[in-house]
Formats: sequence, structure tokens, C-alpha cells
Amino acid sequence: MGLTFDSCSTLLASVGQQHLLRFWNRLDSQKQTQLLRDIAQVNLPLIAQLVRENAAGSASQVHPPSSIEPAPTLPDLWSAGAEHDYPRARADGERHIRQNKVAAMIVAGGQGTRLGFDAPKGMFPISPIRRATLFQWFAEALIGARRRFNAAIPWYVMTSPVNDQATRRTFAEQRFFGLGEDTVRFFAQGVMPAVSTDGKILLESEHRLALSPDGHGGSLTALARSGCLEDMKRRGIETLSYFQVDNPLARPVDPLLIGLHLRERAEVSSLTIGKADDLERVGNFVRIGDRNHVIEYTELPEALARRRDAQGRRLFDAANLSIFVFSLPFLERITGAGDELPWHRALKKVPCLDPITGERLEPAAPNAIKFERFVFDALPLASRSLLVRGRREECFSPVKNASGTDSAEQARRDLCLRGARWLETCGVRVDRSPDGAPAHPVEISPALAADAEELREALRTLPPPDLSGPVLLCAS
Ligand code: UTP
Repeated sequence: MGLTFDSCSTLLASVGQQHLLRFWNRLDSQKQTQLLRDIAQVNLPLIAQLVRENAAGSASQVHPPSSIEPAPTLPDLWSAGAEHDYPRARADGERHIRQNKVAAMIVAGGQGTRLGFDAPKGMFPISPIRRATLFQWFAEALIGARRRFNAAIPWYVMTSPVNDQATRRTFAEQRFFGLGEDTVRFFAQGVMPAVSTDGKILLESEHRLALSPDGHGGSLTALARSGCLEDMKRRGIETLSYFQVDNPLARPVDPLLIGLHLRERAEVSSLTIGKADDLERVGNFVRIGDRNHVIEYTELPEALARRRDAQGRRLFDAANLSIFVFSLPFLERITGAGDELPWHRALKKVPCLDPITGERLEPAAPNAIKFERFVFDALPLASRSLLVRGRREECFSPVKNASGTDSAEQARRDLCLRGARWLETCGVRVDRSPDGAPAHPVEISPALAADAEELREALRTLPPPDLSGPVLLCAS
């Protein structure tokens, strides 16, 4: 049953948040309904608990540096010796996919504030020549994998209340990018309100709370709550491949990572790459006790970030790219017994109405606490987890900023470089400029090939590529 003014008022009074109704008498009935709807979305007892913990100073989990060790990793494909038998692991992963035991999941609920793009990030045009959007790019990757492995590979797309409608609309307008509507399922993550430093939930306007998505870690709870986990079980899915909307170099379904995950009987596996520098703004995979964890770059003591081993190599070198493989029983376990992922707090600038005076505030300094969950916090909940190294130039170039580092321009350059490298691996000579970039843009649709080996196969049936201008290779 929906909230009424009276029930809402009683509820809010019990948790010290009655100020949320202070403008009630000024609102028309539509706005009153909207306000009640916003309040109904909030888990008030949880907020009360988080506010209490925050006041008690028990907010973040701090590990003493002496307990933090480098996380063990398996080598990348190119440096693994015969003893690792990667070809066999890859074949096992492929068989698992063929048996329809693998689903893919993308998290696309973020607000993309840094990119400053006024639509869901998945609609951002990314590919170097056609300017295919991120959603289309990943859809093509799935089309390629489905065809190659003759498998269904359903796709679970996580949105947030902020971009859910726009995301569904774009998929419908683009006819699901050729994937088949019944093979794509959307689900929305939850939201959390920003609170003032003294624990009052903030109003964005007289009838709206200052709500934002509850972090990519919210995806796991949302999977269970939306019925998507049940849906996967019904389809016989055993393994879920997780990736983010903002990394066009990510491979949505990676047979080698899946094969190694199965071989090691891991509950969670992840791809990792060497850090670009000691203080790169990425999470660090570390070992604490008998579990793998991710520690954000803001929380890893600088002395540890800079530490070297006896050979002079960076000790804490394994970066988190947010590419995970989860076993379904593990997801059921961690979402079933209650919500186990911790909440992280961040001080942010949040425009709002003053909770006491009701005056409009445009803060110049952080004025509010936001609560988020991070998906990597699932890692230490796994009794067995596995980290496999990849190479940055093959799998990571995130689109975070409008320009410069981690921008779309850089991701396009990295896609061109990767395409050129694959062509050269297949014996095709690519002209390069003096700075090493290909002389013409190169775009290889992931529907055609997801790595150099697949490109080699594809080239057997294609006419030789014309290299005198931009090189666009697509699946027929
Ligand atoms: P980021 O942490 O980069 O956040 O998300 P963002 O919202 O995209 O961008 P900024 O920080 O506002 O500039 C990494 C990935 O996690 C997803 C994003 O969509 C992206 O794929 N994400 C993030 C969610 O799905 N939900 C969230 O609540 C946060």
C-alpha cells in the first residue's frame, strides 16, 4: 500500500526526518504524490543506522598497512607458460558458453557527471569511424559471441531510476541493436538520499529528495530484487560476466577468464592490469588475510602504493578494471541472507534546500554525505576468488572525462591502435604515423572479432582490407 501523509509523517517522525514534509501545504496534489513516492523509495531505518554509524565515527573500514599484501595473480595470456595450459582453460570456457550457462550483465546506472553528456552514457558515440554508441558496440560484441559459440547469452542491462526510461527507449528505437528483444532484460538499481553532515535527508526541491543511484554495488541487490537472478536460474545460467558501460575495450564474455574461473572453482574472478604509475586513480587488488580485496587509490597509503620488491618492481601493481565473472550460487548467497556489501560514504557538494531554514543552497564546499556500494566489495565475501592479468592496451580505456585522460578521444585512439595491432598480428601491414598511431583510423566491429585470433579467422572469408584510407571491418 502506498504512503499517505499521515503514515509518512509518523514514519518520518520516528527517524527524525519530519522536515521532509515542511513544504507539504504549498504543493499541488501531483507534487505531493511525487514527494511521497520519493520518500517511499528510501530505506529509512537503513539511513538512520548509517547516520548513527557516521556520528559514532565507525564509518569506513581501515586496514592497518602491515596487514595489506599484494594479491596473487595469474599471468596474462601472452606470458603464461605451458604449465598454465591456457588453451585448455579457454576451450573449457568456450564449452561452458556453448552450453548456454553464461549470461552477460552491463552496469549503466551511473550519472556520468564527469563526461557531462546529457543522456545515458551508453548512448555516447564511441567507435572511431562509424561513431557507434557504447550500447551498440557492446551489442555487437554479444552478437559476435552468440554467433561464434552458437549460444543464447542473455544480456541483463542495469539502469537507474534517473536513466531507465531513456535507456529502454533507445534500445527500442534501435530495435535492440539486432539482439532480439526477449534476450535483453532491463532492471533498475536503487537510489539513496544525500544527507547533511548532521544526518538530515536533503531536499533537492520542495517536492523532491536529493536522490542518486546507490553505486554499482547496488547491482547485486537489484539483480536479486528484480527477479533477474531467478530468471537466470530458470534459463540454466551458472556464470555471470559483469562489465561497465564506459570501457569499450572490455570483452563482455571472455572465454579464457571464464575457463580459468571454472578451473579454479572460484566464486568471483576478475581481470586485472598493471598500474600505469604508482598513484594511478584506480582501485588496487590486495590480499588481506586469506581474502582478496580492492582498496581504492584514495585509501591505499602512499608509502604502500610506492613500495617496490627486491627486483625493483611495483609491489601493489594490480589495478581493478571492473570486469568480473560471478558464479550464480555465490550471488544467491550474498544477496539472499541480507545485504552484505558495506556502504561507503563520500562528502560531496549537493545543491539543496537548507533542512532548517528551507533556503536554497548552492554549496561552494562539500555539504552532504552520499552513500554508495561498490561491486568489488563482493570479492572478500568469496572463499575462493581469482585474479588474472590482462594487458591494458587490449582491455582497458575507460570513458570518464570530456577530454584528456580517460576521455572518448583516448578510447577511440586505443581502439584504432588495438585494431592495427590485431591486423599486424594477422600479417596485414598497417601504415603508421611517426607517433606510432595508424596513419588512418581502424575500426573492427566486435561482431566480427573480439581478439586477434578471431580476426585471423574472419579475414579468411573477407576480401583483403583496403588500407589506403580508414579501415572499417564489420560482420556481414
Ligand atoms: P563511475 O564510478 O565512473 O561513475 O561508474 P559514473 O556515474 O559513470 O560517472 P561519474 O563518476 O558521475 O563521472 C563506473 C560504472 O559503474 C556504473 C556506471 O554506469 C559505469 O558503468 N554505475 C556507477 C552504476 O551503474 N551505478 C552507480 O550508481 C554508479
